[in-house]
Amino acid sequence: MSIDRIAVVGGGTMGNGIAHVFALSGREATIVDLNQDVLDESLSTIEANLTRQEKKDRISTDEKDAALDRIRTSTDIADGVAEVDLVVEAVSETMEVKASVFQQLDEHAPDHAILASNTSSISITALGAETSRPQQVIGMHFFNPVPVMKLVEIVRGLVTSDDAYETVEALAEDLGKTPVEVEDYPGFVSNRILMPMINEAIFCVMEGVASVEDIDTVMKLGMNHPMGPLTLADFIGLDVCLNIMEVLHNELGDDKYRPCPLLRRMVIAGKLGRKTGAGFYDYD
Ligand code: NAI
Repeated sequence: MSIDRIAVVGGGTMGNGIAHVFALSGREATIVDLNQDVLDESLSTIEANLTRQEKKDRISTDEKDAALDRIRTSTDIADGVAEVDLVVEAVSETMEVKASVFQQLDEHAPDHAILASNTSSISITALGAETSRPQQVIGMHFFNPVPVMKLVEIVRGLVTSDDAYETVEALAEDLGKTPVEVEDYPGFVSNRILMPMINEAIFCVMEGVASVEDIDTVMKLGMNHPMGPLTLADFIGLDVCLNIMEVLHNELGDDKYRPCPLLRRMVIAGKLGRKTGAGFYDYD
């Protein structure tokens, strides 16, 4: 199946990056969000990021302008998804919100459309169960910043069809990404491995094993990680890290996934990382 028109539901950090790469690949992209202010901000972020690519000679001015021309916005989900081949859902990471969005997508998107989610931790099988077409529901897990990061985890729900998988895999390749096939288990592969590592680094802080800076230095210089785990946690957001650890702990039931008490305390105190100006490091 050819994917020519897509919609992205949720125009936040990930949604604008996803619309950006689809538009640059020549596809018509509609971004749907709750209000016009968010959509306007999303468009200016895309314009700024395309301009950055243009200045680095990665794209021409014509390519930038054409990509911008292919993006439209809507606050009405029914209108935004009415004529698309694929929807990528990138709304906030709660089951309640995503369940309601998938019910609406099922109602308003054409019968042939594939419904993908960019979720980091919610079950694709569970999202599929909110629709009458679970065989066309799939995970398309991009990484931040989307225009830069090459990986897409393609997550197969229990009943996702081979057709849907193959279409999305070919699409990811056409976007210039490297797709990886993953089954629908908590945290997929990326967060199943990354989050326990970050959590363990936080245990090291709590137990006074080493300073924040030194823990990051060990992982950067000893393991060749481009960024230390505590810097990365601040970048991702400590609330997001806690939420994913809770999903791993609840769904896999093994105490090795218990969230570190210090992580909980930092989230309660509102020290969420870069976005609040303080986490393991200060950003003022
Ligand atoms: P965000 O908070 O920046 O954006 C979410 C957007 O969804 C907001 O603009 C909000 O207004 C909108 N929204 C909420 N309910 C809506 C509804 N019913 N209809 C339309 N729009 C609605 O969140 P972010 O970071 O972009 O995350 C989105 C998804 O991507 C989440 O599932 C998250 O787990 C996943 N993700 C996030 C990554 C990250 O690094 N931020 C990385 C990979 C996946």
